[in-house]
Amino acid sequence: MIDTYVPNGSSFAGDIDHVILVITAITGFWFFLAEAVLFYLIIKYGEQEGVRAKYVAGEDPKEKRWVAWPHYITLLFDIYIIFAAISVWQDVKQTMPQADETVRVIAQQWAWTFVHPGADGKLDTPDDIRVVDELHVVKGKTYHFELQSRDVLHSFSIPIFRLKQDIIPGRTVRGWFKPTLTGGYDIQCTEICGIGHGIMPARIIVETPEDHAAWVLALTPTQAAITPSEQPTQLGGMP
Ligand code: CUA
Repeated sequence: MIDTYVPNGSSFAGDIDHVILVITAITGFWFFLAEAVLFYLIIKYGEQEGVRAKYVAGEDPKEKRWVAWPHYITLLFDIYIIFAAISVWQDVKQTMPQADETVRVIAQQWAWTFVHPGADGKLDTPDDIRVVDELHVVKGKTYHFELQSRDVLHSFSIPIFRLKQDIIPGRTVRGWFKPTLTGGYDIQCTEICGIGHGIMPARIIVETPEDHAAWVLALTPTQAAITPSEQPTQLGGMP
């Protein structure tokens, strides 16, 4: 249902959508029921000529039942929501499945630098590929990401993955995702990070293994160009 508007593009997006739908259905049901009762009572017991308003303190046990029972039922629904949410939280945020590759995401006012492992599949080697505002990943591979900030709080959000994670200066925040849809999609900063916050979008390009290999090859510097003291910089990548 949600994926009609925002495609479902990661291994856990469907589980998160399910929790959102469960919460929407439960709160929606109670909202409409409560409003219906409220309007019914307003119409039925509204101001009437010659009838004095009755003061109801709600202290009689028979009156209290009207508050207590809906309360118990709501608590039961709450417990159900908590269990549904915790199992997804455990899977998405508390467990890190084995990674095929790791990417580093560096946020700053107001741009993203994405550090991809090069052909060797490892970060912090001379063939790393640094790209500004464009992250390239392979469909079906499990990625770990390392989030870093050069200045203030930012938040790394990929709507099609249903992924959102704050980035805290001075720390490396880790997480994971597994893309399941090829194509180019939005990345957005979702933490107010200064006047340029609104102009801090980027793109994620989810590719087939062949397309990704061709992209890596095109951006891999030749051996001769690499010196041990120099990190290769691509497409205006930051030092
Ligand atoms: Cu970075 Cu908002």
